[in-house]
Amino acid sequence: MNENYGERLCIEQGRPEDAEELIALLRQVGSETDNLTFGAEGPATTVEQEREYLRAMAETPTSAFFVARLDGRMVGSLSFRAMTLARASHRAEIGISVLQECWGKGVGSRLMEAAIDFAKNNAGVEIISLEVRADNTRAQALYRKFGFEEIGRFPGFFKIDGKWVDFLLDESLSVNSYGSDGQKARKSKKNSSKDPAGGWRCRVLCAIIDSYGLLPGEVCALRAGPSQIGWEAEHRPPRRPRNPVSRRFIQW
Ligand SMILES: CC(C)(COP(=O)(O)OP(=O)(O)OC[C@H]1O[C@@H](n2cnc3c(N)ncnc32)[C@H](O)[C@@H]1OP(=O)(O)O)[C@@H](O)C(=O)NCCC(=O)NCCS
Repeated sequence: MNENYGERLCIEQGRPEDAEELIALLRQVGSETDNLTFGAEGPATTVEQEREYLRAMAETPTSAFFVARLDGRMVGSLSFRAMTLARASHRAEIGISVLQECWGKGVGSRLMEAAIDFAKNNAGVEIISLEVRADNTRAQALYRKFGFEEIGRFPGFFKIDGKWVDFLLDESLSVNSYGSDGQKARKSKKNSSKDPAGGWRCRVLCAIIDSYGLLPGEVCALRAGPSQIGWEAEHRPPRRPRNPVSRRFIQW
């Protein structure tokens, strides 16, 4: 990575008067990548609506909107929004974007640190989640660095120029396990979902194969959502008795 910006970079809470500059920033990032929900047109909001949004974010104790300023100029932003309904209020979602000319210089990391610090000290949040394009390796590197892990895949999350774009669903459990540097303590390899044995996928596959009398290799698709795992099996000529099962969902 190139040299970081150091003290030239400042992370602060967005204010209503930042609305115009923020829209311009989002339009530019939108024109530079296909990773966001919008393109060069930017978010579908007027300056007044954006002002209201920034005001509401500043007034909501469990939400925050951070902007990154390089020598005073806005070059990045991060939204952190905790869920408002009681049963989901332990969760928050984040969205982040940085101007292309500033990528790889620590702006994203500084914004993530601010968000995690906020989650720990203000929001009372335990889980942060996000969605990231399956081919957005730069963003994934940022999220992995902060302890986020893939919990599933959403095929066709975006449709751009008629083509489906898959996303990964990422989650960071237990915000309180972050140290003062914003970095999450790494799990030991043994307990990690990325363990050499294939982690949870391997364990779930074994359980499905055992429970339904399938043969290894017959399960051809395995997808995880927040509350269920779906799988499909392609049956081969039977070599041992089994249930005539081809598709199931397992609730948890
Ligand atoms: C994703 C994004 C926010 C990252 O911001 P950034 O300022 O480049 O992030 P950082 O400079 O802090 O780098 C974070 C990590 O990315 C990784 N990284 C850096 N350069 C990289 C490169 N060329 N390729 C892949 N990964 C890279 C490194 O692991 C780095 O951490 P490290 O330097 O400590 O090792 C930024 O690229 C962006 O806004 N992209 C467009 C919008 C977008 O994709 N938003 C995310 C939607 S989910």
